[in-house]
Amino acid sequence: MKKFILSLLASLAMATSAFASSGGIAWDKFPADKLNDVAALQNGAKLFVNYCLNCHSAAFMRYNRMRDIGLTEEQIKNNLMFASDKVGDLMKVSLDARQGKDWFGATPPDLTVIARSRADGSKGSGADYLYTYLRTFYRDDTKATGWNNLAFPSVAMPHVLWELQGQRVAKFEEEKDAHDKVAHVFKGFEQVTPGKMSAAEYDSAMGDLVAYLQWMGEPVQKQRVRLGVAVLIFLGLFTFIAWRLNAAYWKDIK
Ligand code: HEC
Repeated sequence: MKKFILSLLASLAMATSAFASSGGIAWDKFPADKLNDVAALQNGAKLFVNYCLNCHSAAFMRYNRMRDIGLTEEQIKNNLMFASDKVGDLMKVSLDARQGKDWFGATPPDLTVIARSRADGSKGSGADYLYTYLRTFYRDDTKATGWNNLAFPSVAMPHVLWELQGQRVAKFEEEKDAHDKVAHVFKGFEQVTPGKMSAAEYDSAMGDLVAYLQWMGEPVQKQRVRLGVAVLIFLGLFTFIAWRLNAAYWKDIK
């Protein structure tokens, strides 16, 4: 019986991991040092506001939180906000969810915690996913938007950064797998029109943008670590005091 359950569990585990890796390609590693780079985070914030916030909200994020990545209230107001918003406002959008669904066939999700929600044990962190997703759009005339994506096949989002990256098509080749099933295997991109950025510049800009998305998902991450250390030091001191106090109380009773 035990053996049976074990083999059942094993096959279940195999089935789920096969499922996890079937959607899209392997993920590239997000350059994590960008998270400690204030200039990168600020550039990411700018890209986010200019290119993403028209469709996506970040409804759990206030504009003035961006003071934490070294921006003054004046800079936030002048560069990153719509004139009608106040600096304490949440990052909402004017596009309502139903409209989004009508236009694109899918609702653009809120992006506040997207970096945390897309992690996959076998493929990488949520940041790795986003870094791959934003760099693997390609032209596909069979899709309603004219675009497709390697990390999220048949995505309903158009390539909103195409002017920066330029237009590319993807090359696929048919290959038979071990079970003689024909699979379309990705063989690389071909640049059709140039973008405003070189490939290296675009990769770096996407690193900045993903660093911002990651930071937005957990803006207090750094404070939390500092607070944790302070709490441990306090507990250590307190234990010492309690121990000495206890000894002092019982001294005369023995
Ligand atoms: C023109 C509207 C539009 C703009 C602008 C836009 N998106 Fe999207 N986005 C969408 C839609 C629609 C979806 C839902 C796609 C789906 O579910 O097929 C989506 C989905 C996503 C997802 C979710 C992917 C997933 O795995 O579920 C991410 C991440 C994302 N967008 C990031 C961005 C970023 C970053 C920007 C700015 C560079 C951006 N989007 C700009 C429309 C937009």
